[in-house]
Amino acid sequence: MRTIHSLKELRTILRGYRRQGKTIGLVPTMGNLHEGHISLVRKAVESADIVVTSIFVNPMQFGANEDLATYPRTLAEDQEQLEAAGNTLVFAPSAEEIYPEGLAQQTRVVVPEVSDGHCGASRPGHFEGVATVVTMLFNMVQPDLAVFGEKDYQQLAVIRKMVRDLMVPVEILGAPTVREEDGLAKSSRNGYLNEQERAIAPAVYRTLTTTAEKLANGHTDFRALEKEAEQALSEAGLRPDYFNIVNSLTLKPATDGDRDLTLLVAAFLGTTRLIDNLSVSR
Ligand code: PAJ
Repeated sequence: MRTIHSLKELRTILRGYRRQGKTIGLVPTMGNLHEGHISLVRKAVESADIVVTSIFVNPMQFGANEDLATYPRTLAEDQEQLEAAGNTLVFAPSAEEIYPEGLAQQTRVVVPEVSDGHCGASRPGHFEGVATVVTMLFNMVQPDLAVFGEKDYQQLAVIRKMVRDLMVPVEILGAPTVREEDGLAKSSRNGYLNEQERAIAPAVYRTLTTTAEKLANGHTDFRALEKEAEQALSEAGLRPDYFNIVNSLTLKPATDGDRDLTLLVAAFLGTTRLIDNLSVSR
C-alpha cells in the first residue's frame, strides 16, 4: 500500500491503473480511522479493483468555533488499518495541495434544500464545504464508485443529490452505521468524551430505538414524539440540538402519508456534538 501526498503523483499512478482496465473505488475520510471507516474500505475492496482512501481534514467544512485545529491526526495508525483492510492507495494531501488559494477559493458546490435543516441549520456552510471537497476529490481520483457511511445521513443525502443533479459519473454506495456494543455510533469525536460523558452517550441510540418502537406501535404524532425524545436526551444528561422525524428521501418533516421515515438526532455532551440516525418503514 502506498501513501501519496501530491495530486500530480496520484494522477500518474491512477492513469496506469485505468490503462490496465482496473475499476477504482474511493473512500473519502478525515482520518483517525475506526471500524466504521474500515467497513467502508472493505465494501470498496469488494466492489472495485483499486481502492483509494483519502485522508484530509477539510478546513472548508469546519465552522469558526469548531474543532479543525484539534481534530485528531493519526496517519501511522490509519495506514496500518487500511493496509490490513486491503486498501491500495492512501491519498493524504496538505491543505495547500487542495486549496492553493486557501478558503478564498470562489468555486463552491451548493445543494440548498437537502443541506438546509438539521445539521445544516446548526452548522452554516458545513455541507457546502463537504459537497465542494467531495466534488474535488471525485475530480482528482475520478473513481467508478465511492462509499459513504449512513452514520452521516444528511451528508449522504447531499452527496447523492449533488451527483444526480450534476450528472457526476460516480456510483454512490451507502454503508450501514458501525456501533460500539452499547449502541453508540463509532465516531472520531467519541475520543473527546471523558469517562462520565462516555457513560451517558449511549442514550443517543437508545432514544432512537425507543422512538422507533413507538412508531412501530402505531404512534403517529411525530412532533410530540420529537419533543419526548428531546426530553429523554435532556434527562439523560445531553443537550439536544435537534431530534427530527423526517421523510427518508427528502429529509423534510415526516407527514402522515410517509412510509419511509428517518429519525435524525444531534446532541451535545459538554462541547462534543454527537449525531446518529435510524430509519424505519411503516
Ligand atoms: P469522516 O467523519 O472521517 O467520515 C468518513 C466516512 O466514514 C463518512 O462517509 C462517514 O459517514 C463514515 N463513517 C463515520 N463513522 C461511521 C460509522 N460509525 N459507521 C459507518 N460509517 C461511518 O464524513 C467525513 O469524514 C467528511 O465529511 C468527508 C466526507 C470525508 C468530506 O470531508
